[in-house]
Amino acid sequence: MNPDSRSVIFKAEGVTKRFGNVVAVDKVDYQLYENEVAGILGSNGAGKTTFFNLLTGYFIPDEGKILYKGQDVTRMTPQERVSLGMMRTFQLTSTFDNLTVIDNLVLSFFRAHKKSSLWNLLFNTCKQHRKDEKILAALETFDLEKVSDRLVKNLSLGEKRRMEIAMAILAEPKVLLLDEPLAGLAESEIQGVLDVLRKQIGKQTILIVEHKISHVQDFLQRLIVMHEGRIIAEGGFECLQHPEVRKSYWQIDPATEASGTAEAAS
Ligand SMILES: Nc1ncnc2c1ncn2[C@@H]1O[C@H](COP(=O)(O)OP(=O)(O)OP(=O)(O)O)[C@@H](O)[C@H]1O
Ligand SMILES: [Mg+2]
Repeated sequence: MNPDSRSVIFKAEGVTKRFGNVVAVDKVDYQLYENEVAGILGSNGAGKTTFFNLLTGYFIPDEGKILYKGQDVTRMTPQERVSLGMMRTFQLTSTFDNLTVIDNLVLSFFRAHKKSSLWNLLFNTCKQHRKDEKILAALETFDLEKVSDRLVKNLSLGEKRRMEIAMAILAEPKVLLLDEPLAGLAESEIQGVLDVLRKQIGKQTILIVEHKISHVQDFLQRLIVMHEGRIIAEGGFECLQHPEVRKSYWQIDPATEASGTAEAAS
């Protein structure tokens, strides 16, 4: 589908963020379309995480605007943006490491959907809702059935990452922003996380920052490459062949470069 025929969910207009003399994000214009799975690539220090932080409200830009569904959210707090439907994993998803997996899922669902206090949720809601359809479906989708009664502190990193993504998705966000979801995972755990992400394709808008390009290239529909705070290429994976990308993108492996892929060691 031509992305231009879909509605824009996020728009950045001339967004700039400086830290002292460093221009971390430099006049970035960007559009994210509804229900697409898009990626941000770029070398270390390119400005990817800072750009995420601007989209999610952790930083306020020095210049420019951020629009969410046409609404100016430039100065809104992260919590206000979450209530509009954005969700960022690994920062906003707080896990309760001394509770079980299933109770963490219940809490995430009910915190997002009911205005009940956390105290009330912890003591009343968990028990009542362990068998709810949505919770059981999430355990199955994210391959967490076998560990549903395990305390989170005893999970492997791959299991915990799947649970974090399940928690984010149970909150039914309009946009899921994932900053390096595969970071720190063993090769054997990466497939499990990719499998759960693949199940979300077409169901919601996903924006992913990832260094392990070869792992995500089969499901990213569009990508941008950042360098020194600017977007230097945009499009499909062919944009990795763009001369500026080849020049700036760090550690391009000559063996994979020829086939249009690059793997940055993270
Ligand atoms: N809180 C901060 N204070 C000062 N400088 C910062 C801060 N956050 C980022 N920077 C600087 O801004 C630039 C962009 O950093 P950013 O973390 O956005 O890059 P990145 O593309 O996410 O890199 P990585 O791939 O290493 O995660 C870097 O020069 C970094 O040192
Ligand atoms: Mg980063």
